[in-house]
Amino acid sequence: MTTKIAPGPSFLKLLTHASEAKKNLITPLQKFFDEYGNVFKIPMGFTSIYAFRTPEAAKEILQDKAKSMCRSYDGLKPLIGEGLLTSEGELWRKQRKMLSPLFHQKSIENFYQNILEETSSLVNTWKKVDSSNELIIDPYMMKTTLNVIARSLVSTDLSGVADQLGVNINVAMDFLVKNNGTVFPVPMFFPTKRNLNFKKAVKEIDRLIYDAIEKRREKVSEAKDMLDLLLNMREEQTGEGFSDRELRDHLITMILAGHESTASGLTWAFYLLAKNPKIQESLYQEIINHIQNSQAPKLEQLSSLVLLNQVCKEVLRLYPPFWYLERKTSEEVIIDGFKIPKGQRISLSPYFIHRNPEVWENPDEFIPQRFEENLHSARHKMSWIPFGGGARYCIGQPLAMLEIQTIIVELVRNFKFEVVEEHLIEMDPLISLRAKHGIKLRKTKR
Ligand code: HEM
Repeated sequence: MTTKIAPGPSFLKLLTHASEAKKNLITPLQKFFDEYGNVFKIPMGFTSIYAFRTPEAAKEILQDKAKSMCRSYDGLKPLIGEGLLTSEGELWRKQRKMLSPLFHQKSIENFYQNILEETSSLVNTWKKVDSSNELIIDPYMMKTTLNVIARSLVSTDLSGVADQLGVNINVAMDFLVKNNGTVFPVPMFFPTKRNLNFKKAVKEIDRLIYDAIEKRREKVSEAKDMLDLLLNMREEQTGEGFSDRELRDHLITMILAGHESTASGLTWAFYLLAKNPKIQESLYQEIINHIQNSQAPKLEQLSSLVLLNQVCKEVLRLYPPFWYLERKTSEEVIIDGFKIPKGQRISLSPYFIHRNPEVWENPDEFIPQRFEENLHSARHKMSWIPFGGGARYCIGQPLAMLEIQTIIVELVRNFKFEVVEEHLIEMDPLISLRAKHGIKLRKTKR
């Protein structure tokens, strides 16, 4: 079989894009896709990065040839250890099987109560503030999603310390994001201020989590939250439960994978609704037609809100929170006809697949109706992959979608959102897709 050679920029050309890449990596990547088409190769010394943006390539990478690759999220290990995001091979398979019940229907019903209570607290806070004011919504979304996940994982024991946990997680994540963007990070054993701050934050996170585990080990009850479920889990063959260290890794993984991504999706959702007042108004009408004014929406009502579901999918298409996925080849593999040797990096960005003009008509426009059942079912399964695909797709998708839907319903029926024209909106593609200067909106009580 003849294989193709991937086009791409020379090392010298790459250098001319370096300062641009530092500000916003999406800009040069977009230019390379525009210039070279659906595949390009970036030389990085001994290894290269092969970037793809078609659903067909996504299927090969995430599903058909996934066995020839591994994840390359080792940079997160100093914080999350060996949880589902970072584990590989047999360990991952065992963990995934054991952890799946965390997101079954019964748990989702428990989470839903937490989501409703946290959202109601946000609505009350916003109602108390001046009725037509402007605010940066990002920190409110982060706090709400962190509280939801902390309560869902460890209901009683962590809810009082969610703020403390949040501050330390932010310090640790900020360190890891910056470290991963540095060619030669200072080794951890050097006592630099940054290294020491990181270690202090991880120590504090460990103290909070181990405290919660210890308290619960003393009084394991029937499953009320994820920690109860985790404590009751047994490995099929050996009958062994998780050690404290494993529990800690799983809890931190869920907190980390679960709160910032959901907050990012929500933040962009309100921005897009504010920018598209007609769609916001139609959504408001749909909500008040289905849900009585003073009552909280029932879980089963959410799936009947057709426009709401389309809006959520369209938001995650335009601004997928995990905008960039990466794999490393563990053996030679052929993707889309390109031969890729062992040890190379493969970049598969949901952002670029979602904005590929060959896959989506008017890809940069916000058109929720494109997710009408018959239109969407005709598309390639991997044309919409905000939650990844294949065996390693997001285990928390049911919780994330429920959270996004509920928070949109409750906020849209209580407030009207408008953009603040003079506020600059710029993407900041870190691990999750944030807004560089935050999203500032004007909200008015309904
Ligand atoms: C809008 C919110 C979310 C988005 C967009 C999202 C997206 C993703 C994506 C794209 C992956 C696959 C990464 C890859 O293949 O390299 C993933 C994996 C994962 N997500 Fe999510 N996620 C979200 C919310 C959550 C929540 C709420 C949780 C848990 C509470 C969670 C837990 C995980 C875990 C543990 C994995 C690793 C799964 C495995 O490898 O088996 N995520 N997520």
